[in-house]
Amino acid sequence: MKVFQHVSDIGDLRVALAEAQEVKRDRYQWQHLGKNKTALLIFFNNSLRTRLSTQKAAMNLGMNVIVLDVNQGAWKLETERGVIMDGDKSEHLLEAIPVMASYCDIIGVRSFARFESRADDYEEKILNQFIKYSGRPVFFMESATVHPLQAFADLITIEEHKQNPRPKVVMTWAPHPKALPQAVPNSFAEWMLAADVDFVITHPEGYELDPQFVKGAHVEYDQMKAFEGADFVYAKNWSCPGVTRPEDYGKVLHDYHSMMDWCVSKRQMAVTNDARFMHCLPVRRNMIVTDEVIEAPRSLVIPEAANREISAQVVIKRMLESL
Ligand code: CP
Repeated sequence: MKVFQHVSDIGDLRVALAEAQEVKRDRYQWQHLGKNKTALLIFFNNSLRTRLSTQKAAMNLGMNVIVLDVNQGAWKLETERGVIMDGDKSEHLLEAIPVMASYCDIIGVRSFARFESRADDYEEKILNQFIKYSGRPVFFMESATVHPLQAFADLITIEEHKQNPRPKVVMTWAPHPKALPQAVPNSFAEWMLAADVDFVITHPEGYELDPQFVKGAHVEYDQMKAFEGADFVYAKNWSCPGVTRPEDYGKVLHDYHSMMDWCVSKRQMAVTNDARFMHCLPVRRNMIVTDEVIEAPRSLVIPEAANREISAQVVIKRMLESL
């Protein structure tokens, strides 16, 4: 595997899920693969889970790991070509990428949507430069449009907890005071549509996700109706994807105070099939989900986060096998 961005990069999902369970049974059995190999994890944005779980996954495989927080201690990077660099950015990404690549064997990058230009974000301008100029396998640790390590961990978690062969999985928008990217819902939708689940998306009008990720998905604008009979409820906020009105890209369309009915509470969970609650974390309690629901025994947020180590290990293992 040279790039991990989309569900298609992992191949047959049944094979990937079986491999995840094999990793879980004995995560230290492939230490020979990473001997004298180095993973470089580059963060343009904050992280708790991705930072720790990906380091742990690489160490499980016997690798050395270097973590770079670009905004803390490195030179400030210019990312646009053709810019006269007379401002506060001392180094260009086009030199920095091959330099960083010379110190490692595989690269993970986190670089969120900047909301300056929908085209730039949806073209994945930053991550594509790493793919083009590093000469190394590159995995996405949440980019402008996708978070595949999270979606893979979510799928592993659903597989481990499902009670029937084709569970109903509902992804619901929920309120948030700030504008958040669409990477998590895009990837979750992409992976659920490829998996053997009955997938429904619910959100207020105006928050339609990009068709490249949700084409063919069942969208139900009535949240209570969407929740009926659900086996898994996956909550997430996202800002306007700008599909129908590009000028609204990255905006919060309504004052969140008027949208608090969308916060996942016992009221909505009561119409589900005793659903398991999921969220990628970090989560704002009593905005996205009530204390009661996230603390209930049916909540899967902790096993979901623990599975981030497993999804990362499968991906890094496959990249090491392809070196
Ligand atoms: N879910 C997730 O990616 O968490 P972090 O932002 O803390 O890495």
